[in-house]
Amino acid sequence: MSIKLGNKADGEDFFDRMNEREDLWRYLEGNHIVLSGPRRLGKTSLLQRLAEEAAERDLLARLVDVEGIDTAEAFIKEVDRAFPDESVSHNLKSAGEKVTSWLNRVRKLDIKLPGGIEGSLELQAMPDVVWAEAALRLQNRLSNAPVLLLIDEISVFLEKLLAKDATEAVQLLAWLRAWRQQSGLACRFLFSGSIGLNALLARHRMNTYFNDCYDFRLGPFKQNAALAMLSEECLREDWQADKQTLAYLCQRIGWLSPFYLNLLLANTLEAARDRLQETTSTERLLMSSDVDDAYDRLLATRSRFIHWHQRLERDLEPGRLSFTLAILSAVAKSAEGLTRKQLLARLQKLEADPELRADRLDQAMLLLEEDGYLDVSGDRIQFLSFLLRDYWHRNHAR
Ligand SMILES: Nc1ncnc2c1ncn2[C@@H]1O[C@H](COP(=O)(O)OP(=O)(O)OP(=O)(O)O)[C@@H](O)[C@H]1O
Ligand SMILES: [Mg+2]
Repeated sequence: MSIKLGNKADGEDFFDRMNEREDLWRYLEGNHIVLSGPRRLGKTSLLQRLAEEAAERDLLARLVDVEGIDTAEAFIKEVDRAFPDESVSHNLKSAGEKVTSWLNRVRKLDIKLPGGIEGSLELQAMPDVVWAEAALRLQNRLSNAPVLLLIDEISVFLEKLLAKDATEAVQLLAWLRAWRQQSGLACRFLFSGSIGLNALLARHRMNTYFNDCYDFRLGPFKQNAALAMLSEECLREDWQADKQTLAYLCQRIGWLSPFYLNLLLANTLEAARDRLQETTSTERLLMSSDVDDAYDRLLATRSRFIHWHQRLERDLEPGRLSFTLAILSAVAKSAEGLTRKQLLARLQKLEADPELRADRLDQAMLLLEEDGYLDVSGDRIQFLSFLLRDYWHRNHAR
C-alpha cells in the first residue's frame, strides 16, 4: 500500500496545498509564522514541502523537529546543528549575488510593514543562564542570513519544558521573541506542532510570547483537490473509481482532512478486495458499499480514536474535563451540529449560572477548536471529522 498514513507525506505522496504554499511564502517575506491546525492535518508535510521549495528562493531552510528534547540548551543545539556554518555562509554568498534572491526581497521591504518585524538593533540583555552564550552565538550567526527555521513540535517541546522548568521556558521564549523583533532580520521562523500552541500558551497565561507571529491556520482540502488525490491514489493501486464514488467518500468524511481521506480510501480498497474474493467478479471497480463497509470497520477500531479521549483525560483537571466531555457528548448526538444557544442549554445541568456557563464554554472551546475536535467556523458547532463524531457517539456520548 503506497498511500501514506502515518508519517508526513512527501515526494509523490504529497498533494495540493498550492494556495497555502503561495500564501505562506508571501507572509514569510514580512512575518514570522505560527502554523496551526488540528492533529494529522498535514502540517509537517507542508513544512517539509516548504523546505524543498526554499532553494528556488535562494533560501536555506531546514525542518527542525524538537519533539525529543526538553531543555533550552538542547533546543539551541538542535537548531545549531540543522544550520551548519559552511552551508549558511555558502548560501549567503550565492544569494547575495542575485537581485531576485530572498535576501534582496526582504531587505527591500525595509521592515516597516504594519504588524511586521521591527525592534531594536542591539542584542537584548540575556538572562544569566548557562545557555546564554550559545544562544547569542546562534542569533549572531543566523540573523542576517537568508535562512528559514522550520521548527516542528514546538508545543510538545514547550509542554515538557514547562513541566520541568517553567522559568527556563519563559527565558527561552523571551529570548526567541526578542530575536524575532531585532530589526533588519533576514532569517525567518515558522513554528508548528501537533498539539495546539495557542491553547497551551493560554493555559499557562503565556500568549504574549508568540503574539508577534502571524497565526496561519491550516484548513482542509478543497473538494477538487481531494478528488484529484483520491483518484490518483486509486490509479496507483490499480483500482478504478468513478467520480461519484469518490465524491461519496468525501461526503462521508465531512471536513476534508487528507489524513482521514487517505485512511478511508485505504480501508475502502481493502473492503473492495474482500468483496471481490467472495464473488467471481474480477472487475477492480470501487463501489459506494465498499466505502460504507470501510467506514463501519474503521469505527469499530477503538485504537484509532482512543487517543482523542485520553488526551483530554490527561490534560484537563476533573471539573474542566467533565464540562469538556459534556460538550463533546452533546455535539456528537446531533447530526447537524448545535448552535451555541442550543449547546449552552444542554450544559445547564453542569453550570446553572448563565454567565459562568458561557465563560466555561469559551474556555473549553479554545482547546476543542484548536486541537481539531470541533468546528466553530459556521453558525453551528460540530465535529470536524464525521468519523470521530460517530465514534464519539457510539463510545462516549451519554
Ligand atoms: N499534502 C498532503 N498530501 C497527501 N496526504 C497528506 C497531505 N498532508 C497530509 N496528508 C496525510 O496526513 C497524514 C499526516 O500528515 P502530517 O504528519 O504531515 O500531519 P501533521 O499535521 O504534521 O500531524 P501531527 O498533528 O500528528 O503532527 C499523512 O500521512 C497523509 O496521510
Ligand atoms: Mg506533524
